[in-house]
Amino acid sequence: MQPLDAARARAAWGFLALGVRDFDRTASLVPSSRFLVDAMLRGLHLERARCVVELGTGTGTVTRELLARVPRGCVVVGVELDPSLAEATRTRCRDPRLRVVCACARRLPSMLEREHAGRVDAVVSSLGLSLMDAATRDEIVRAAGSVLGPGGVYRQYAYLHARWLAYSQARGAWFRWSARPFLERHYGSVSSELVAANLPPAVAYTCRAPRA
Ligand SMILES: C[S@@+](CC[C@H](N)C(=O)[O-])C[C@H]1O[C@@H](n2cnc3c(N)ncnc32)[C@H](O)[C@@H]1O
Repeated sequence: MQPLDAARARAAWGFLALGVRDFDRTASLVPSSRFLVDAMLRGLHLERARCVVELGTGTGTVTRELLARVPRGCVVVGVELDPSLAEATRTRCRDPRLRVVCACARRLPSMLEREHAGRVDAVVSSLGLSLMDAATRDEIVRAAGSVLGPGGVYRQYAYLHARWLAYSQARGAWFRWSARPFLERHYGSVSSELVAANLPPAVAYTCRAPRA
């Protein structure tokens, strides 16, 4: 386990408070476990990546590990909608390779253009897709596919329980949502890995060959 330094503790507390206020946006009350972070980053050949995007950096839990795995000269663009969480990522992950953009992930193509980032090797997304409205969800996943270079990978996690039952605070309703059929509409190849040792258990999806 990482030591519980002051910045991390503050960030985790802020994340929890935001989650209680607006769960549909944070989609979680606690940052991802190291098991989920590892499943999200494993096999992406990050050691030779030139540009990687992370969607929904939260408190920087995935970002830190991502930075530990990419080479010098790689550009990492972290996208986070919430200004306080974007700032928490910047504070926790001070690194010249990292650019944190506080904006909605649906604007990814124009963001990358502004950053002169070039084609992307991997997009790693922790966004709570199940809690988004269908149009935003489609737009974000399509935008992610459009920025990938040849052989690029989109990695997304989803909590397992959403297949059977999940609750939207904003809509005040219970619902179910399956990530796989949705991802298969957007990508020609989708594989998955169960991460039971996460709270709550999650599935990490690897998506290749974005559909035009
Ligand atoms: C489940 S949390 C993941 C946080 C962190 N990456 C982790 O794994 O612990 C999802 C994050 O996505 C952010 N988010 C939600 N909608 C977004 C959007 N449309 N664009 C960018 N970030 C968004 C939330 O503010 C939240 O920090």
